[in-house]
Amino acid sequence: MASITILGIESSCDETAASVVQDGRVLSNVIYTQEIHAQHGGVVPESASRLHMKHIVPVVEQAFRDSALTLNDIDAIAYTQAPGLIGSLLVGAGFAKGLAQVRGIPTLAVNHMQAHVFANFIEHPSIPYPFLCLTVSGGHTQLVLVKAPLQTEILGETIDDAAGEAFDKAAKMLGLPYPGGPMIDRYAQLGNPNQFTFAKPQIQDLDFSFSGVKTSILYFLQKQKALNPDFIEQHLNDLCASIQHTIVTILLQKVEKAVKKTGIKHLALAGGVSANSGLRSALKALAQRKHWHIYIPSPAFCTDNAAMIALTGYYMYMDGQRSDLSVTASARS
Ligand code: KG4
Ligand code: ZN
Repeated sequence: MASITILGIESSCDETAASVVQDGRVLSNVIYTQEIHAQHGGVVPESASRLHMKHIVPVVEQAFRDSALTLNDIDAIAYTQAPGLIGSLLVGAGFAKGLAQVRGIPTLAVNHMQAHVFANFIEHPSIPYPFLCLTVSGGHTQLVLVKAPLQTEILGETIDDAAGEAFDKAAKMLGLPYPGGPMIDRYAQLGNPNQFTFAKPQIQDLDFSFSGVKTSILYFLQKQKALNPDFIEQHLNDLCASIQHTIVTILLQKVEKAVKKTGIKHLALAGGVSANSGLRSALKALAQRKHWHIYIPSPAFCTDNAAMIALTGYYMYMDGQRSDLSVTASARS
């Protein structure tokens, strides 16, 4: 059988990324991270779109060079259609469609959150169905039931902030630069996770909430800083460890509940927050105790990347799906 080769393009937020996937195997995975946003404490949408415009061509060219293939070898172009920043998405969608039209090949409009889930198949191609996936990113927190290839159902999600947002907002309160998640992770490794306690909301069923945690951290820090202006500096490691421990505990309580409810013991992690070392090790420990089977992508496939877009596009292509050239980007899923 002839090979099927997909070019994937990701531009939903502050990463410009391209990847070539052949028969489900990643041949290249190029990511340009827009570091300029660190100065502003968050992603500035206008700058993000402009930087995607600037970097998309060199990133795609590099993805072709790394794969030792050319545009002529590509069967379809997959791009992130939603969700994300609309200006950023439009750069990727417009570029993908233009390129596809030049070559006369189809496009595949990929949902970014579904792609995070399918990133698991890059390194674990034969996870048995059905399985559960905890998808934790900067904008989403979802417990997903994966029934079959491309068939997913959201069992629970956040009713306010996402887990990544909780990490980023807490980091901002501690004076750490954006994105704060990786910074909290780094300092947490040197601190005591039980030094400080923050509120853990009790939310119905399999939904999540992180706004109470954020408020609890804010009030705690305000009170401590009034007593000692150097409090954060003096306790940074313990603060990071305790904040991380609180967020991880909230996530894993719901995972446990989902396993109990569904009886499914195969569990995957996805999204940027799944790069968190505390979450990874706590899930591994819990899974060992409970005899679950767990699948965790390498950190490079947890955070935004185009390999997951190309791979999801590959599954869509094999499923016979083709996106109309009129399908455009959408900020919401
Ligand atoms: O999936 P992702 O790269 O982009 C979105 O689709 O949102 O996730 C980004 C989020 C950010 O909130 C970032 O702080 C968080 O993932 N993140 C982490 C870590 N690495 C990235 N959070 C905690 N620990 C990390 N190591
Ligand atoms: Zn993402």
